[in-house]
Amino acid sequence: MTSDSVTRDDTVVVFTEDADWHTRNLSLALEREGLRVLVRSLNDCGFAIGETPHGLLIPGLDGALPAAAFIRIIAKGSTEQITARLGLLHALRECGVKVMNDARAIERCVDKSMTSFLIAKAGLPTPRTFVGERREAMQALIDAAPMDTVLKPLFGAQGKGIKRIAPRAPLPEPAAVGGVYYLQEFVESASPAGHYQDWRVFVIGGRAVAAMIRQSERWITNIHQGATGAPAPLDREACEIAVRATEAVGADYAGVDLIENARGEFMVLEVNSMPAWKGLQRATGIDVASRLARHVAESLAVPAAEAG
Ligand SMILES: Nc1ncnc2c1ncn2[C@@H]1O[C@H](COP(=O)(O)OP(=O)(O)OP(=O)(O)O)[C@@H](O)[C@H]1O
Ligand SMILES: [Mg+2]
Repeated sequence: MTSDSVTRDDTVVVFTEDADWHTRNLSLALEREGLRVLVRSLNDCGFAIGETPHGLLIPGLDGALPAAAFIRIIAKGSTEQITARLGLLHALRECGVKVMNDARAIERCVDKSMTSFLIAKAGLPTPRTFVGERREAMQALIDAAPMDTVLKPLFGAQGKGIKRIAPRAPLPEPAAVGGVYYLQEFVESASPAGHYQDWRVFVIGGRAVAAMIRQSERWITNIHQGATGAPAPLDREACEIAVRATEAVGADYAGVDLIENARGEFMVLEVNSMPAWKGLQRATGIDVASRLARHVAESLAVPAAEAG
C-alpha cells in the first residue's frame, strides 16, 4: 500500500447503530455543508489487508478513503468486538482521516477512571475518586471519609447503575460491579432546596456552544433518569473548565458534566465523547448538529495558501 494508490473523496462516514434522530439531523447538516454522507455500523466494517488499497473494509466506499468519520454510537459487544471496532477507528486516523472523536479520546472517556485521572492531571477540579478491584482495600478507603460515596459502573452511561453509599455502609460484592469499583466523593450541589442539579456543557472545536442545567428531585440528574433541562448561561468559568476538560481527554467535541458544589465551585464529573444532544437542543434551541457539521467542514477545508 502506498499513499499514492489511495484515493480520497468528500464522504463523511457516520458510524452508528440506527438512523436515529441524531444521525438524521447530523446527516442533513453535513449535506448542507456540501459533504456526502454514508451511514454505517462499525459491525459491518473491518480490515481487508492486501485487498483494498488502504487495507480497510468500509462497504460503500469502493476502496477510497472517506474525508472524515463521525462516531455517533459504538454498539455493545465482546472485548474482541470492541477492540476490533476501535482498531478500525485507530486505522482511519493512521490513514490521515479526520476521526471525530478519535479512538484515543473515546477510550479515555469510556473508562471513567482514565477520564478522572486525566482531568485531575490537567489541574482541573474533580471530586476525589478511588478505583480498584479489591473490595476490602476500597472499603477501607471510603470508610475513612465522613461523606457519602458514589459508586459508578466503570463503563456507565445515562446514570444507569449508579449508587450512593452511606458512610461505612458495605460495598457490594465484586461481581455486582464488573470486578472494578469506581468510587467518588458525593458532592452536595448548589441547587434550590429539595432539588439536585448539574450542568451539561457541549464543547465543539475548543469552544463551548451550549449549556443546560439539569434539575431533578433525585440526586441523579441525567435527562434519561427523568431530570429536566433548562438553558444555562455560557458561564465563563464553567465553559473554560469544560473546554479544558475536553482538551485533557483529547476530544474534538464532548458533552461535559459539571457539578457546582456548595461553595459555588465547578467540578468535572465526566466527559462524554459520544454525547447525545436532543435534550440539550430542546432546552436551549441551539441546533447542535449544524454546529458539529460546520466544524467538520471547517476542519476539512484546505487552507487558502495550500489550495493555490
Ligand atoms: N460525585 C458525585 N456527586 C454528586 N452527584 C453525582 C456525582 N457523580 C454523579 N452524580 C450524579 O449522577 C449523574 C450521572 O453521573 P455521571 O455523569 O458521572 O455518569 P453517567 O451515568 O455516565 O452519565 P452519562 O450519560 O453522562 O455518561 C450526574 O449527572 C450527577 O447528577
Ligand atoms: Mg453523565
